[in-house]
Amino acid sequence: MSTPAAIPVDPAFAAHARITREDYSRLYEESLRDPEGFWRRVAQRLDWYRAPTRIKDTRFDPADFRIRWYEDGELNASVNCLDRHLAARGDKTALIFERDDPAQPAQHITYRELHARVCQLANALRHLGVRKGDRVTIYLPMIPEAVVAMLACARIGAIHSVVFGGFAPHSIADRIADCGSKLVITADEGVRGGRRVPLKANVDAALKMPGTTSVETVLVVRHTGAAVDMQMPRDRWYDAVVDGQPQQCEPERMNAEDPLFILYTSGSTGKPKGVLHTTGGYLVYVSYTHECVFDLREDDVYWCTADVGWITGHSYIVYGPLANGATCVVFEGVPNYPDAARFWQVIDRHRVTLFYTAPTAIRALMREGEEPVQRTSRASLRLLGTVGEPINPEAWRWYHRVVGDGRCPVVDTWWQTETGGILIAPLPGATDLKPGSATLPLFGVRPAVVDANGNVLEGATEGNLVLLDSWPGQMRTVYGDHARFIDTYFRTYPGMYFTGDGCRRDADGYYWITGRVDDVINVSGHRIGTAEIESALVAHPKVAEAAVVGFPHDLKGQGIYAYVTLKAGEQPDEALRAELIAWVRREIGPIATLDHLQWAPALPKTRSGKIMRRILRKIAEGQPDQLGDTSTLADPGVVESLLRDRAPGS
Ligand code: PRX
Repeated sequence: MSTPAAIPVDPAFAAHARITREDYSRLYEESLRDPEGFWRRVAQRLDWYRAPTRIKDTRFDPADFRIRWYEDGELNASVNCLDRHLAARGDKTALIFERDDPAQPAQHITYRELHARVCQLANALRHLGVRKGDRVTIYLPMIPEAVVAMLACARIGAIHSVVFGGFAPHSIADRIADCGSKLVITADEGVRGGRRVPLKANVDAALKMPGTTSVETVLVVRHTGAAVDMQMPRDRWYDAVVDGQPQQCEPERMNAEDPLFILYTSGSTGKPKGVLHTTGGYLVYVSYTHECVFDLREDDVYWCTADVGWITGHSYIVYGPLANGATCVVFEGVPNYPDAARFWQVIDRHRVTLFYTAPTAIRALMREGEEPVQRTSRASLRLLGTVGEPINPEAWRWYHRVVGDGRCPVVDTWWQTETGGILIAPLPGATDLKPGSATLPLFGVRPAVVDANGNVLEGATEGNLVLLDSWPGQMRTVYGDHARFIDTYFRTYPGMYFTGDGCRRDADGYYWITGRVDDVINVSGHRIGTAEIESALVAHPKVAEAAVVGFPHDLKGQGIYAYVTLKAGEQPDEALRAELIAWVRREIGPIATLDHLQWAPALPKTRSGKIMRRILRKIAEGQPDQLGDTSTLADPGVVESLLRDRAPGS
């Protein structure tokens, strides 16, 4: 296995880094030898009402299963993100709000102001009858109110469920119904790349769908000022309810294992899973990893370009950075609006020092050439990060050489919604870098590579990535379905957490994540279950059957390839193709835009009726010579006809 030469840690960076090479070896060894002692000490970084004495109680055995961290500790997440900073950092900027339109001035919000705004909304929520343990759905654009809403829920012990603003009414309704939200916080509209997103209208449509009657109140932020339907008494303007509230609010005292939030994510089966994270372990983990991986300093300006609708936004825009008292950019827009220099202009405008984005954005901007980057200075930058999907070495090198002028370490961070925080990533002052590798595990993280039978493979090898022990930021359950949690993650390889990812480990022990090995595809860093798209397709009256697979896509990482069988008597044509593509976008949201739709007179199945996805994947990938064993096919003629009719341009 060839191992490309590593890029050594920059001695100038290492000289001032929080964690050096020696620290990493020593602390990593300690974290495995004495997890209790290690995580007891790390937990001291937070303010606790009651410091935990019981640190770790975890077992991955399905028959005797538990994940509990800091279980007798008590704290409040919003107090840790706000109140405790007021004395020393009250006037420090917590959020820099950069709007979609670059002509609009940015807004700076200090920790004191953010605290006041969170308290006001928290009081308003209590006034509207929201209590500890109630669920609140947040469907907002990337505006400061999104951060305020999350922290206000945390303050009163309500469990937030943030739904990405790109999701369609159906997806919102499913997520509301699954957790029985009492209240929804939305805005009149969002704006992205100059285009308006009708958020309130989407919520109205969602609340007409079955299972959503739990919602008593909809709070509407006036953002663009667009006229929207207000259905009284259900709908209330956010400012009317919030502005008159007191700027102090008594926080709820939470147990470390009380839920903090639910975040829905796609799995291999049809229904998205409500990933549940709790308060103490999660906050310890995200604040600690944020400090270590980004080598955070007091005067840094940190910008993570994710949306708060995804886990990256939760952990590394809101909870980690704010628990650390950092200054964070909140960006409403998109990388290519008004043009491909936007990211770099924002970096210059706010003197961003730490920049964290997704490979898909890097690849898209790389395509625009170096000129838009060279137009800007980027002299403030000292570290670059990536997350969400494997980064190809070419894009990594471009990011390092062009964006970072060759002087900034690139931290490729591997993690998942389920893991809460980063598990595998370089520490910039400690780890030599290899373009395309997430490198080495963080403290307390015990990755292993297994074969299909769960045998742990040693040394340089390739297989499926599992984790042998728990870490504080691990999800605790699937909301309302603990059996599904155990079945999904702990039964494939008993005693281990199965990530769903494949990986390679090289001779230096570096991890190279190769992508999902289950029926989840990663489109532009967004996770979508193929089964979700299939159920949207078969919900169309003309569709009899559908199978969806991923295929390599230059910009998006993976694209979506759908095989569709129509009902008898229906004729495939271009109009119907366009209609089905629009239908899926409407059902799920624009992230589920099909790249290819191939009409399939029939799908390749085994004699027992199981769709042979492996074959469909190979056809979509354009590797018809690698179909493998087709002897179990019920009707080999099906594959021949699919090969003949492969979607053009794929
Ligand atoms: O396949 C891995 C990929 O994204 C999946 C997790 O998706 P999600 O829960 O939406 O969280 C994304 C943000 C943390 C993983 O199973 N993934 C994430 N980061 C990387 C990655 N693949 C390769 N390299 C990464 N750095």
